[in-house]
Amino acid sequence: MASTPPFPEETSTRVLRQFELLYARPPALLAIAPGRVNVIGEHVDYNGGWVLPAAIDRCLVLAVAPRTDGRVRLATADFEGVIEFDGKDLAPGRAKDWSRYVRGVMAGLTRAGHAVPGFDACIASTIPVGGGLSSSAALEAATGLACLALVGADMDRFALAKLCQQAEHDYANVPCGIMDQAAVLCCEPGHLLLLDCEAETFVHTPLAGDAWSLLIINSGVSHELASGEYAQRRAACEQAARRLRVPSLRHIGAGDLAAALALPGLTEEMRRCVRHVVTENDRTHHCVAALKAGDFPAAGRHLNASHASLRDDYRVSCAELDLIAEVAQRESAVAGCRMTGGGFGGSCIALVRRESAADVIQNVGDAFHARYGRRPAAFVTPAAAGARLFRL
Ligand code: GLA
Repeated sequence: MASTPPFPEETSTRVLRQFELLYARPPALLAIAPGRVNVIGEHVDYNGGWVLPAAIDRCLVLAVAPRTDGRVRLATADFEGVIEFDGKDLAPGRAKDWSRYVRGVMAGLTRAGHAVPGFDACIASTIPVGGGLSSSAALEAATGLACLALVGADMDRFALAKLCQQAEHDYANVPCGIMDQAAVLCCEPGHLLLLDCEAETFVHTPLAGDAWSLLIINSGVSHELASGEYAQRRAACEQAARRLRVPSLRHIGAGDLAAALALPGLTEEMRRCVRHVVTENDRTHHCVAALKAGDFPAAGRHLNASHASLRDDYRVSCAELDLIAEVAQRESAVAGCRMTGGGFGGSCIALVRRESAADVIQNVGDAFHARYGRRPAAFVTPAAAGARLFRL
């Protein structure tokens, strides 16, 4: 890693204090995992496409100390109560609460041959839950790093991301792609992660240009990926790929789109999905080129087009996100704005001129307040560091 990323002092202090209060001993290690925001390349990861996320400077801190009796105790610095279970009792479906992510990762590590011991743990997080910023991937990643440290093992970051993705599939019933877990585990400060989800390779792309920053505006509508819509879109894409006789929709280039759409045998639903995925992959490549050239206005136009495609073709936006995107896109200090993440709520991302971010937050907030009677939470973030582990 290029430089030592900042230690989230306030959140860590809260966790350490609560840990000692609950368990009457200090933790042995801290795992810190950020949330992520996706700049572009939405709903393409499970189609083998290209995504461009960054870690954000909101994170989850997990403090852990091993136990010798095989029990696992989990707590948070923000809510009362301790969840306790037997570290060998890890079958999916045992828990509906947040311990399922921990259990899922422990089960994956156990399958990979690591004898994870029992432990006491406490978390605190500044990642808004339901904000579409991957709070669950952060918990999975932090759990993975902490458990590996407890057994004195190491694992390739991308392999750990895949293990965490499997936990999300099996323990939260969300058939997600690899983007969130890879972003949380593999991002580097100051860089976007250009990830090829089929080749499973990535490049750290510098987010140049001090004049521009990433602005996140949270609609406050809690998204529920498990609601079935996400799985339905994914299934429609996979069915379309089968009918088009390609391994995944990634293999249809922008130049082949018209011919693909003209083929009989695709339903209207499949056509919309194909159009979104193919054009989104194309936009991501163009956006990366524009960002590399320092042309933020051009990059922003691809963000705007991405939002329209997600709203109209893929139908994963909602009225609140549409309003935020529409108002932000009209701001002269905004290069582009779109919904980010799975959708159906969650957040928008805008590329915004740094010195005008506060004005944009104010103006979008005013318009949102006029319609919904509340102001959306918004914050500027650098491209932050990926997950990391501290031994105490
Ligand atoms: C969620 C999933 C990701 C990805 C996005 C949409 O965040 O977890 O795998 O599919 O939605 O791009």
